[in-house]
Amino acid sequence: MEPQQTPPAGPHRRIALLPGDGIGPEIVDASRALIAECFPSWELLDADIGWSQWCTRGNPVPQETWDILDSCDAGLMAAITSKPAREAEAELAKHLRGTGLTYRSPILQVRQRMDLYANVRPVTPGQASDTARNAADFTIIRENTEGLYSHDYLLPPHDAPTGSPHHGLWAEVGGDSTVVRAVDKQGDVAVSLRVTTTFGWQRLARAAARMAIARHAANPERATTMMVTVADKPNVLRESARVIRGAVEAVAEEFPQVTFEFANADVVAMHMVTDPGRFDVIIAENLIGDILSDIGAGLIGGLGLAASGNIGDEFALFEPVHGSAPDIAGRGIANPAAFLLSAAMCAEHLGGSGATDGQGISDGQRELGSGGRGEPSAEMTAAARLRAAVYTAVSSTPTPDLGGSATTAEFVAEVRKAL
Ligand code: IPM
Ligand code: MN
Repeated sequence: MEPQQTPPAGPHRRIALLPGDGIGPEIVDASRALIAECFPSWELLDADIGWSQWCTRGNPVPQETWDILDSCDAGLMAAITSKPAREAEAELAKHLRGTGLTYRSPILQVRQRMDLYANVRPVTPGQASDTARNAADFTIIRENTEGLYSHDYLLPPHDAPTGSPHHGLWAEVGGDSTVVRAVDKQGDVAVSLRVTTTFGWQRLARAAARMAIARHAANPERATTMMVTVADKPNVLRESARVIRGAVEAVAEEFPQVTFEFANADVVAMHMVTDPGRFDVIIAENLIGDILSDIGAGLIGGLGLAASGNIGDEFALFEPVHGSAPDIAGRGIANPAAFLLSAAMCAEHLGGSGATDGQGISDGQRELGSGGRGEPSAEMTAAARLRAAVYTAVSSTPTPDLGGSATTAEFVAEVRKAL
């Protein structure tokens, strides 16, 4: 008889592990050994990020964390708190208050600084559920570096001096009748800029086309196939939408096998609920994609099961779509499923053939794990096992957010048993 061979672990990877705050640290504590077991080639490097770093040090992403991220192949983040400006100032350590520090969401900083332009958010049900939900099987790729998240300004009462980022904004918006009314009342006026570039949208559209092709290769029987839906608001945000359309149309010529459609984001939101089966890959600008992806999470069982990847050409960071749930933090009942599914996504990204090879975006996502290109890598195989085990545990031993009573540790134990 042949001796049993241990499958190869795969190449050595450096993975930054960012517990963050709220329920993040307890999710990581419960999951660390399991992740190490599933992915023996991963060296996990812990790094601090989030609200506690802001409160104590005035900086939610300390320099050591940037250094670790820069030295890693990928990152895995559990949860971070992002609070509005007023709370951010109030919770800052006394000696740091009033020193001009401003809070910027650490995850937004990481996405921007590391140029993780494609926020991949699969809307794929992992378990049997009702029929409408079963029909959902698509991926949202949200533009992650520009759009409505780019600049959000409070305008001073008068035009700001030359050199200030607000300079000239009054000239731009001051003629607007709504703004004039607000000024008469001495009210505050804030302005958000939707930065939209051809460069940004061409790379996003390419990522989407590759994703659509990879999804088809993995599952040619899928009803809606190789279609990219651009969910935007071209009838209202006319100029930026025109840039988007031009960029996407140029990329569409490179991918004749992929159908591109342009749709209004509000209608897409409705169809996601009434007819989710009509989508394959949806792309949207930052804020629209943020909102659509939470609807997507709702279709596959809630935020407790929604995983995501922030993917760039050089680095990728995986995280659950959920937040830090401060209301249940410290009670040992947080659901680690989305975090574990994000770890699986990370493994597929790294273990897939197209991971961060400068081609643009991973085609090594889940879709390729089961089809296409010859022998799956060790990471791909381990990722598929982990994902299946997570869904087994979701059915047998759900945490309270999914209607069960399991603790975080019990859930993870169940996943390990199911592996
Ligand atoms: C998400 C979150 C973040 C976002 C917040 C925490 C800044 O909602 O990842 O979807 O808006 O992008
Ligand atoms: Mn969100």
